[in-house]
Amino acid sequence: MGDACKSKVCNPPAPEASPVVKEKLAELVLDNDKLKKYIEIFTDNINRGLKKSTNPTSIVKCFPTYVQDLPNGTEEGKFLALDLGGTNFRVLLVELHGDQCEMKSKIFAIPQSIMTGSGEQLFDHIAECLATFCKEEGLEGEVLPLGFTFSFPLVQKGLTVGVLERWTKGFKCSGVVGNDVVQLLEQAISRRGDTKIDVCAILNDTTGTLMSCAWKNHDCAIGLIIGTGSNSCYVEKQANAELFDEPDMGSGEVLVNTEWGAFGDDGALDFCRTDYDKEIDKNSINPGYQVHEKMISGMYMGELVRLVIVKLIEDGVLFGGKGSDLINERDRFYTKYVSEIESDAPGSFENARQICEELGLKHAVDQDYVNLRYCCEVVSRRSAHLVSAGLVTLLHKMGKPVVTVGIDGSVYRFHPTVHDVMMEKMTELCDPSIKFNLMLSEDGSGRGAALVAAVAARKKDNSAP
Ligand code: GLC
Repeated sequence: MGDACKSKVCNPPAPEASPVVKEKLAELVLDNDKLKKYIEIFTDNINRGLKKSTNPTSIVKCFPTYVQDLPNGTEEGKFLALDLGGTNFRVLLVELHGDQCEMKSKIFAIPQSIMTGSGEQLFDHIAECLATFCKEEGLEGEVLPLGFTFSFPLVQKGLTVGVLERWTKGFKCSGVVGNDVVQLLEQAISRRGDTKIDVCAILNDTTGTLMSCAWKNHDCAIGLIIGTGSNSCYVEKQANAELFDEPDMGSGEVLVNTEWGAFGDDGALDFCRTDYDKEIDKNSINPGYQVHEKMISGMYMGELVRLVIVKLIEDGVLFGGKGSDLINERDRFYTKYVSEIESDAPGSFENARQICEELGLKHAVDQDYVNLRYCCEVVSRRSAHLVSAGLVTLLHKMGKPVVTVGIDGSVYRFHPTVHDVMMEKMTELCDPSIKFNLMLSEDGSGRGAALVAAVAARKKDNSAP
């Protein structure tokens, strides 16, 4: 036993992926030079999005959200919230009393036919779910304030006006782009005539996440989602957010929804994209759009790994060059498999073996499991590295000495190492005078929606004569 091992139990070194596999996947590994180049280009994209003169041609839109004040922990009241745009559609009832928050929620399915049907069908479905929930909770007689978390790119013209710029992720409902989604919701509710609500705010999930984290943590100044999609929002000086032409109401700041998922749609990320990324894009519902998001988020991560696996099988360096019908099926390698395989203790292949069996890859040997894990690791690490570079860009841009990043989304929540990889990479890339924290934000889309509505109500009260 070597000296280093005398006082502690030594685990055997984790088995290594084959050199040929590593070599073939080298293009998925982003070194710091590439990430620094990313930061430089992304900084320019953010600046172009913020400026009135360059915003129309900017890919990264940096939409002002009309949220100017963060919660202070004294918010009170009973609110409804709708959450559309993640894995599930949810209706929530949120009660805030001081530092307490109680929530009841119900998940409703959105059938594929509705996700790609007409806007009217979508909003009728939402209104129906809302009515069912209110009936079940005995809220029929009350007119409750409602916060609508609508996680798509919105041009906001006020806290309760949001015009859809375009659909992202798996949605494509006709007749919604270019329209105010609050009005579409209100119209659907009045078509039914059995529920009364007062929409107090429409917000992005990143905004909800930031608010929900800022409620307890006053350093929180960035909201991040790594879930079905990926996006961020941050606190910007009102003077820099040129599209926001409201009078300064005191804080001098406004939350900006970056919509960073679109970064790269003009080719800016081609220096680090691969053929796998191009294939994902080509097969998606929105080819040419959301290039950055497609390299990062949960909607695409499993499929990216599947494409890598299929290529390695074709090249004869994985599973003895023998695949299966299921591994050749599009979207059949779920993103949750990536988390599960990377959750196996080093040297143990419990989850990997089970997943391979499920996929008809029963002929796998131990070295295949090690290589398979490596495929997952390069894809999830690349995702975490891109997000890290994005966050460092925002930290440098804000220049605040201490910032907490509030984070939500299934990838951040369930992947075993994304958090640690981000901490490590951000520490390497960030100006050392800036201190940052990464914090899981509890239910931003629900609690955050209620908080935005409550802060808006507080502001209204304060400005009353
Ligand atoms: C997509 C949406 C964005 C949202 C993100 C995370 O990128 O365009 O608005 O915040 O997904 O859900």
